Amino acid sequence: MSLFNQVEEIKQKILHESEKISDEASLKSFQERFLSKKSELNGLMSHIKELAGEEKAKFGQSVNNARNAVQEAFQKKADEINQKILERKLEKEKIDISLPSMNYEVGGINPFYLVQDEIMDIFVSMGYEVKEGPDVESDEYNFQRMNIPESHPAREMQDSFYIDPRTLLRTHTSPEQAHAMDEKGGKPLMMICPGKCFRRDDDDVTHSHQFGQVEGLVVGPGISLANLKATLELFVRKMFGEKREVRFRGSYFPFTEPSVEVDISCMNCGGKGCSTCKGTGFIEILGAGMVHPNVLRMSGYDPDKVSGFAFGIGIERVAMLRYKIDDIRKFYQSDVRFIEQFKRR
Ligand code: PHE
Repeated sequence: MSLFNQVEEIKQKILHESEKISDEASLKSFQERFLSKKSELNGLMSHIKELAGEEKAKFGQSVNNARNAVQEAFQKKADEINQKILERKLEKEKIDISLPSMNYEVGGINPFYLVQDEIMDIFVSMGYEVKEGPDVESDEYNFQRMNIPESHPAREMQDSFYIDPRTLLRTHTSPEQAHAMDEKGGKPLMMICPGKCFRRDDDDVTHSHQFGQVEGLVVGPGISLANLKATLELFVRKMFGEKREVRFRGSYFPFTEPSVEVDISCMNCGGKGCSTCKGTGFIEILGAGMVHPNVLRMSGYDPDKVSGFAFGIGIERVAMLRYKIDDIRKFYQSDVRFIEQFKRR
């Protein structure tokens, strides 16, 4: 048999062998047997010296072609097998989306924030600007700028957490009135400011060392008590419904003159008198009044040219009435059984 025929025969034999490759092991042994340096095809190359001139080149070429054919057949099988290995791996790692999911619970929103957001929405819809102020306040802004000088008896009403003799946790959001007026530099303004307040109260069902207020302030030419009354009546109706009765009672705050407290008819008895409203038929929800001329003056406004009204709404108070919550401590105790009742559906 000629050397050329031998090359062809060996090639056919090896290609036939390659058909039998079925897994990684047979792939590997094929490679060792037919594609290593000591393979049968490479062995044939030693016969090249028996050939003359041109034949040598032709022979080398035919061995090379045979080698390439074998390499190609091997590669094809290797690709097939690798593909199968990958498929098997993916099969094993498959995520079964038909399995029921883990039971993730959607949380509820603390009614404190539900109500705070609602209060904000009502005033923003009337055109008020939203401000924020610091929880840690200076004595100057918390008291003096609110017309409560040192040794004023009103300080006794607001037992405070002092950080140093000049700095405290704010006892109300009213200092934001002074900050807002400072910023506006004598121009008319309409703002609300939600925030936390702190007082040294003993905690019980209606008292908390920490609570929320929404402060409101309107300053400009000709602002009147009638404007305050209309604004707060609108707020109460939007918050508690059309049927709610609103009552303005004369009161006292050092930073407003005249001052009022606003009551709404009791949601529990509708005004007849019950234990919730202590027999009066009404429940207090906020303090308000016309901004005191001293406060305007200290903030760079001329009380002969402009006037203003201010109010401070107790967030927990409103939330308790709105959702019939009987203990103010529930707002900060983080009991999921309480919070869960306020899931948005
Ligand atoms: N700052 C007062 C309080 O905390 C509430 C208030 C605000 C009263 C604005 C009048 C005007 O009790």
